[in-house]
Amino acid sequence: MAEIHGLGSSRKRVEDARFIRGQGNYIDDFKLPGMLHLDIVRSPYAHAKIKKIHTEKALATPGVLAVIDGPTLQKYNVHNMPTLMSDTQMVLPLDTVKYQYQEVAGVLATDRYTAADGVAAVEVDYEPLPVVVDPFKALLPGAQKVRDDKDSNHIWHWEWGDKEKTDKDFENAEVTVKENIYIPRIHVSSIETCGCVAKWDATNGHLTLWMTTQAPHAIRTVVALITGHLGLSEEKIRVISPDIGGGFGGKVPAYPGYVIAVAASIVTGAPVKWIEDRTDNLAADSFGRDYHITAELAGKKDGTLTALRFKTIADHGYTDAAANPSKFPAGLFHICTGSYDFKNAFIEVDGVYTNKPPGGIAYRCSFRVTEAVHAIERMADVYALKIGMDPAEFRMKNFIKPEAFPYTSALGWEYDSGNYPAALRKAMDMIGYEDLRKEQKEKLARGEFMGIGISSFTEIVGAGPSKHFDILGLKMFDSCEIRVHPTGKAIARFGTKSQGQGHETTYAQIIAEELGIPADHIKVEEGDTDTAPYGLGTYASRSTPVAGAAAAIASRKIREKAKKIAAHLLEANEDDLEWERGRFFVKGSPDQGKTIQEIAFAAYTNHPQGMEGGLEAVNYYDPPNLTYPFGSYICVVDIDRGTGQVKIRRFVAVDDCGVRINPMIVEGQIHGGLTMGFAPAMMEEISYDVDGNVHGTNFMDYLLPTAVETPKWELGETVTPSPHHPIGAKGVGESATVGAPAAIVNAVVDALSHLGVTTIDIPMTPRKVWELMHKHGATLEE
Ligand code: CDP
Repeated sequence: MAEIHGLGSSRKRVEDARFIRGQGNYIDDFKLPGMLHLDIVRSPYAHAKIKKIHTEKALATPGVLAVIDGPTLQKYNVHNMPTLMSDTQMVLPLDTVKYQYQEVAGVLATDRYTAADGVAAVEVDYEPLPVVVDPFKALLPGAQKVRDDKDSNHIWHWEWGDKEKTDKDFENAEVTVKENIYIPRIHVSSIETCGCVAKWDATNGHLTLWMTTQAPHAIRTVVALITGHLGLSEEKIRVISPDIGGGFGGKVPAYPGYVIAVAASIVTGAPVKWIEDRTDNLAADSFGRDYHITAELAGKKDGTLTALRFKTIADHGYTDAAANPSKFPAGLFHICTGSYDFKNAFIEVDGVYTNKPPGGIAYRCSFRVTEAVHAIERMADVYALKIGMDPAEFRMKNFIKPEAFPYTSALGWEYDSGNYPAALRKAMDMIGYEDLRKEQKEKLARGEFMGIGISSFTEIVGAGPSKHFDILGLKMFDSCEIRVHPTGKAIARFGTKSQGQGHETTYAQIIAEELGIPADHIKVEEGDTDTAPYGLGTYASRSTPVAGAAAAIASRKIREKAKKIAAHLLEANEDDLEWERGRFFVKGSPDQGKTIQEIAFAAYTNHPQGMEGGLEAVNYYDPPNLTYPFGSYICVVDIDRGTGQVKIRRFVAVDDCGVRINPMIVEGQIHGGLTMGFAPAMMEEISYDVDGNVHGTNFMDYLLPTAVETPKWELGETVTPSPHHPIGAKGVGESATVGAPAAIVNAVVDALSHLGVTTIDIPMTPRKVWELMHKHGATLEE
């Protein structure tokens, strides 16, 4: 008998059988007969008028078939597309480009190299225009307008909380602290760039689009809405997300390349492939972060926090293409009260246009949670430092108490469950906190700079209750459909789409737990809109909280029917049956029972008269609440006073994501997430010069950590189940990316606080750290 591999089993990832053999099927692996290739001409200017596009030389290149520009697409009214925030994004410009590397024209050729040659042969006459790069300058009266179709560069103002009560708390506070925190633009840098193959079948009027999307159903609906006037209706569009080499939020939006490829396939009748090169991907795809936060906390001298006030400028680039739920233009930034019991809070966020590519995607976080966590976890340390309290003691004092759950925060979120002191205590014990503090003092006396940083974060994942969450009007539920075959094996399909998270492994484990069918006998499929039930896709760690719950509920529906069949087979009353994993038996007579496999066979061969045949169920799960995973991370750093280099000596991460489906996969998610938190803390940043030229369009300039730089992670766990999730699970995919940066920054500031340093912006490059020490006369000179 095959092992069940239910909840808590570190089952090996089934998808790895193909990945480690090089048998994964990514977009660039698709080779269709007669397939053409698309490459894209991009703007060297951040703002310029296009005077003329010269295509003659390109068209004379053997193998180049066409050059597609904005006016060509305008004939079909597909030169613009809506963004996820209902703004407008150019597919190809009619006459003006708004950021460097913006798409200017598409070149269609018989192979990828020829398409690139064609791109090089297109000559464009530009007239450069003034550029706005700094969002603060973009808001000044008389600033150069980024968008001709808007009144100003101010996109929206959003505020949340009680301003009056918060202001009053600040007026009456014994202690207040204030810092400016910049969280720079970074890129998701997924191993696989974006791309698609569009195949138009003119005979049947069908479009098949294989694409690197995290949300295939939503894309299908959007394509139908944009191209409906061309006769492309939703049942004739099939979006397939094959294997995806990392998404991290960057593969939620639609990019112009997708639309141009579809248009090119419709016009030529041939399949068209578009795949970005690394520079296209790094320079022009949507970015994460870019939040300028002015953060303030108020409280008492004894360390009790009372109020929080954050004001933020969000740089969205030239269009608001953030991937946020419609109701929340700043995502879930209002989780920024974090793990602490504030009485009052008020936040304001202003979105701003600049001459940069669209930004604001949910880079490995639930919309804007990383920004929120970074700000509150940094400010907790700033406050503790000001009153001279140990940051661990300060956190323990202000944590929401374990008995206070479910807890409603000052900004209105209902936290489902948590035990913050337990997670922090565990992390402190693992790392030997008290001894480290002693060591730190001794080292400082010897002139050595060592720091200890804590981040006790709370996340918010699993969007969402559909009454609050939608994207472009599409309610954020998710789905699972299970069919049990006559021989007791099953197929399960989902509205989500894994990009490496291991859904094929873990979803099967949920069903295995609920039905007792071994996980190895359950095939999991995602990503094909012709076969999967409708869902909103995978991002913001929503798969487990939403589609995972759908898997449990659909399984339970199957169990209900299975019970009726078992009663029929056993000639017993349904009420007299009991369930143990994989089997119904008669109460008091454990020998008299039927396995789920026997019941499945009967569902097709011997079911009761009047009952529908078959054994299947579907569930569209609308979660009653979000889930609130949390954790406490502690980082220990040593700083080289000669070079400014920060060495992470130890990093302990205690995570709580409720019930763990597959502990090995959870640990893998945390390892990857911590590395993706370490990277922006220490090295990643996209910056621009005053002309809007982007720095960092390749991996020589845009630094990613390799195994050499990455610290050794030490993991621990606590388990506080979610009370409303059917299996008690919370999401985990993003926790570590969200929680890690503040722990590292807090450690560096802690090492330098005796100099009067209270903050440092990320990335903490050796130069930045050295300059900070140098300013205070604390560097070691030759
Ligand atoms: O939405 P996404 O898949 O990115 O994030 P997630 O729901 O947090 O899940 C990431 C991976 O961790 C999936 O394979 C989950 O099944 C697994 N997981 C788990 O085993 N136990 C949990 N409590 C949460 C996630």
